[in-house]
Amino acid sequence: MEQKTVVLGVTGCIAAYKSCAIVREFQRAGYRVKVVMTEHATHFVDPTTFRALTHEKVAIGLFDDPSDPIHHISLAEEADLFLIAPCTANVMAKIAHGIADDLLSTAALATTAPLALAPAMNVHMYEAQATQANMALLRSRGVHFIEPDSGYLACGYVGPGRMPEPADVVAFAIGILEGKKDLAGRKVMITAGPTRERIDPVRYISNDSSGKMGFALAEAARDRGAEVTLVSGPVALENPAGVRVLKIESARELLEACREPFAESDAAIFAAAVADKRPERIADAKLKKGRDDDMLENIKLVDNPDVLATLASVKGSRVVVGFAAETNDVLDNARRKLEKKGADFIVANEVGHGKAFGTPDNEVWFVSADGEEHVPAASKRQISDAILDQVVKRLSQR
Ligand code: CTP
Repeated sequence: MEQKTVVLGVTGCIAAYKSCAIVREFQRAGYRVKVVMTEHATHFVDPTTFRALTHEKVAIGLFDDPSDPIHHISLAEEADLFLIAPCTANVMAKIAHGIADDLLSTAALATTAPLALAPAMNVHMYEAQATQANMALLRSRGVHFIEPDSGYLACGYVGPGRMPEPADVVAFAIGILEGKKDLAGRKVMITAGPTRERIDPVRYISNDSSGKMGFALAEAARDRGAEVTLVSGPVALENPAGVRVLKIESARELLEACREPFAESDAAIFAAAVADKRPERIADAKLKKGRDDDMLENIKLVDNPDVLATLASVKGSRVVVGFAAETNDVLDNARRKLEKKGADFIVANEVGHGKAFGTPDNEVWFVSADGEEHVPAASKRQISDAILDQVVKRLSQR
């Protein structure tokens, strides 16, 4: 088999020293690595190190190689995967906005290979709205992200921003290169986000769900070859590329929107945080204090349909996965939900007190008739792949 080439971009960040080990890990796995550095990166690691490791020229400046006048294009074309690890906030911003003002950003714009970024930076830079917006934009275009770990950062802060260990970066990259397509030909439906239950035209009952878990699942299933329909409540996330997205507001709309994709699905995953109750009446006009006190103070709530239980009652040979978001007695509650809802397994997690809702990481348990399996804290993308591993296993047994 022909040896595949990874073009490894290294940017000006203290984590650049880990890029040396990334080169080694790729080589051990049988890949050829070509390194492109930004000028700033050379302040952290000398290009000689990468030249010695790769036995290849290390590309830095646009005009460094007189023998190859269009170096950015040849680099872009050679890549089977274009990986930038570590990737600074600046380089990510340039790629998001098509700015090509050095060799690395120009080659990244020119490549048609899959692009993967491993952001590494100070926690406040990582959490800055500009950085998060750039990441969301790149994600919606199909760029892969190796999410940073939380921990002690070189700047002295503790939080997300640290590049994962080289072996993890390389494992993720190889997953993209070799494309685990174990859901090819399968249809997967996923519900995500909160629901909104209207009181009047300007007020509603809702919850803290960000939709990140359901969206991560949709991206993971897509990357594994599935045809994905994502039915989502109102969230502040970009629609993932290559996924059919149906937007709903209320639980009743969710149920209606799910019927057709569920009927066609091989697997259905219910990650939405559905409001159990809704106001019995939705006022046509805004309720006014003073005039409508009686209605505002006595909002009568009635039951919403249970979307998961309703559809699982006609589940046939589909694999059906539910979630249990609990503030306490996580496993007991999950076992109860497994029986009540008719799912094949329940992904149980703890919520509240800063856990799960809106966070990038999650710690879960899979609860099924076979028992419980603990999945230690990992990114929502990694949790998604662990859930899909279970789905694939069950599909293969049918
Ligand atoms: N669910 C659903 N429709 C509802 C309520 C929940 O489809 N009306 C699904 C959720 O998407 C999730 C599972 O059921 O997969 C469990 O949701 P959760 O909110 O944890 O449980 P509830 O059924 O609301 O039970 P409880 O109020 O006891 O927590």
